[in-house]
Amino acid sequence: KKRIAVLISGNGSNLQAIIDHQQQHAELYEIAIVISNRPQAFGLKRAADAHIEQKVIDHTEFDSREAFDAELQKLIDSHQIDLVVLAGFMRILTQDFTRHYLGRMLNIHPSLLPKYTGLNTHTRAIEAGDKEHGLSIHFVTPELDGGPVILQAKLEIGADDSADSLAEKVHRLEHLAYPQVVQWFVEDRLSLKDNHAWLDQNCLQTPVEF
Ligand code: GAR
Repeated sequence: KKRIAVLISGNGSNLQAIIDHQQQHAELYEIAIVISNRPQAFGLKRAADAHIEQKVIDHTEFDSREAFDAELQKLIDSHQIDLVVLAGFMRILTQDFTRHYLGRMLNIHPSLLPKYTGLNTHTRAIEAGDKEHGLSIHFVTPELDGGPVILQAKLEIGADDSADSLAEKVHRLEHLAYPQVVQWFVEDRLSLKDNHAWLDQNCLQTPVEF
């Protein structure tokens, strides 16, 4: 049975979706630990309610990204983790850290990558006049939001959409999509080879459309 760590910074609604999924697929994997870089993150309560171990590593207590990431890595590796799941984890990770978990770390990002890496993706999509928006789930590589995309879910941007309404629509799709990708990984169907994502025997030249 696989063991995953979920890293959060805030509300943790994606964490909740994964908790709910895990409870339906307890034979496949367990959530060994939830880690937050912010002590106030609501997701910590979600983990506690589900009787999952939670730890805070507060980034403000570290002098450098290197020191923070080293502590994070030590904690994760002491839990024999097969997969690290970034779920609204809002810290940029060092190259060493991303290399250490290469092929074993996933991120969810609220845009149709390669569009809109970084922050404020919903506002940027609206301001650009985009007709569609969505989310991407990708393997984490040293390049920020640049790792091979596994899956994308798209939605139409309507004339009356705001950043808030888009965020809500993206969230709803995220909660369906992320558990699916986690499931593929823990079923040994998903891997990273030669900087490409592979699902079953297929190299994903384009992301799976959800
Ligand atoms: C999600 O929309 C996720 O895509 C985004 O943060 C939100 C977290 O929500 N992630 C990023 O922006 C990563 N750069 P949650 O805490 O309710 O899961």
